[in-house]
Amino acid sequence: MQEPQFMSHATLTAFGAYVPERVLSNADMEQIVETSDEWIVQRTGIHERRIAAEDEYCSDLCFAAIRNMQARYGSVLTDVDFILVATSSPDTFFPSMSARIQAEFGIGACGAADIQAACAGFVTALQLANGLLLTGVHRKILVVGAETLSKITDYTDRTTCILFGDGAGVALLERSDEGAFIGSYVSTSGEDSHQLYRSSLSSSINGQPITPNGKIIQNGREVYKWAVSQLPKGISAIMERYGYDTADLDWFVPHSANMRIIDSVCEKTGIPVEKTLTSIAAYGNTSAASIPLALDLAMKESRIKTGDLVLLYGFGGGLTEAALLMRWTL
Ligand SMILES: CC(C)(COP(=O)(O)OP(=O)(O)OC[C@H]1O[C@@H](n2cnc3c(N)ncnc32)[C@H](O)[C@@H]1OP(=O)(O)O)[C@@H](O)C(=O)NCCC(=O)NCCS
Repeated sequence: MQEPQFMSHATLTAFGAYVPERVLSNADMEQIVETSDEWIVQRTGIHERRIAAEDEYCSDLCFAAIRNMQARYGSVLTDVDFILVATSSPDTFFPSMSARIQAEFGIGACGAADIQAACAGFVTALQLANGLLLTGVHRKILVVGAETLSKITDYTDRTTCILFGDGAGVALLERSDEGAFIGSYVSTSGEDSHQLYRSSLSSSINGQPITPNGKIIQNGREVYKWAVSQLPKGISAIMERYGYDTADLDWFVPHSANMRIIDSVCEKTGIPVEKTLTSIAAYGNTSAASIPLALDLAMKESRIKTGDLVLLYGFGGGLTEAALLMRWTL
């Protein structure tokens, strides 16, 4: 049976980002846990991360990223009709970060929901926004990826604390006759969800006991193996499904989890590493914020340009994957 045709009426019309001022370098990490700059760079590609101030929360990062977008594009937000925020580290579970944004920016009647799909959150939110625009009811949607992972990181666990950082990015999507999204791909491996989690009310996942400290816990080796085996399969699935080849890509934007994962995926798929956009070196793993931060860095360096063919690929806790093939319209 032929695949149903992918439909899109979404166009990207503005973009913004924010990272907190405080820098936590690998040298600083050496003062917190037994580690070294050499080990961290070699195993992860991370040089430093940004850390939110004690009284700075996820909602503050969302507001700052949106203000940055307004300053760059002069975007009018009063007529936004839906707000989606992807985050695993909101300052409150409810109200949602998206409801806080509605109030902060004086947006009128609109929908507001936070999306929890861990590091695949931003791409998942873009996919959902495309669906909302397709209904014909919605015309202008704010999609935010924002994290204050430093507030849920266990700084006594050297295998995880060296990875994570804070930041936020925002995309404004508007309905257009010809959408810029070309195709999407999703996959979930819930049977492996206990390999990467943050505990909440229950003390077990998949029948396995979990550490109930509210911090990020992961089996790094298992997550690594999962990512390097899943991503090449997902990449060839999305490219084949929509009639493209990896050689057609101008940019591959994987979640900035770890440079070694990205190198391995590039090697397996034949995507040149030079064609990847990442935020890992400067910001570490910022979960739902890492893809918008990578896009923001690429815009500031004038690397990405209008019309470029871009593959976004989020993956992480869940374990979830969400990919989107799109034309860059900024
Ligand atoms: C976390 C990660 C960097 C650890 O690298 P690794 O090569 O798998 O390391 P291991 O856990 O096998 O440990 C190797 C050794 O380094 C040590 N080590 C772990 N963390 C260390 C650190 N920060 N500094 C120095 N040594 C460290 C371990 O204790 C171990 O020592 P041993 O061999 O004496 O027992 C890696 O597993 C990884 O990147 N996983 C994916 C994580 C990820 O991206 N998660 C997010 C997905 S969204």
